[in-house]
Amino acid sequence: MTHVFTIAIDGPAGAGKGTLARRLADHYRLNLLDTGLTYRAVAYALIQHALPLDNVSAAETAARQVDLARLDRTVLSAHAVGEAASKVAVIPTVRRILVEKQREFAKAPPGAVLDGRDIGTVVCPDADIKLYVTASAQVRARRRLAEIESIGGTASFAEILADIERRDERDTGRADSPLKPAADAHLLDTSEMAIEAAFLAAMAIIDDALAKRNKA
Ligand code: C5P
Repeated sequence: MTHVFTIAIDGPAGAGKGTLARRLADHYRLNLLDTGLTYRAVAYALIQHALPLDNVSAAETAARQVDLARLDRTVLSAHAVGEAASKVAVIPTVRRILVEKQREFAKAPPGAVLDGRDIGTVVCPDADIKLYVTASAQVRARRRLAEIESIGGTASFAEILADIERRDERDTGRADSPLKPAADAHLLDTSEMAIEAAFLAAMAIIDDALAKRNKA
């Protein structure tokens, strides 16, 4: 049987894991799944139908209808959708349905990079490489503000920071699959590190693991 290679990347919102996941998927020629988009798609469907985010049966139906090949980042990346996603993400049955789809995706050759909150702990506990990418809330808020300003927008730093802290609390505090590093995850703190340096550090970890495996 050919081995399918899996890289699991977890961490809080805004730590740079999305960019890192994309760079690694390109470099190692692996499939890529931003699992946050799956939770966002469920939230978006509820918002579209003006349904409350704690309507469990509607959320389950929306989760079943999520098609990984049709996740529209442009629509789903709105800030409000991210907030709403963290609310539907506390529903255990929604998680079960989405995790099933994510695991199917990871199984397809030649393998995949998946990023999210519970990839190394729940979705792919046997991943070849687990990275936990983090940065201080202050740094993440500063980056988010710079991003907004770079496209001509304005926002308040204090509000962004409060928002990030609220989302962190929801993601780390929930009972089902809370955000936390897997015991065997490599920690990458990008607070003082540009994305290029984080990419090089991740590559060094992965190449080392690949070399060990080829020797075994
Ligand atoms: O990463 P992103 O900001 O797109 O994720 C939106 C929300 O979806 C997160 O705040 C989190 O609550 C939820 N999520 C999750 N598990 C994942 C990915 C995202 O609970 N694997």
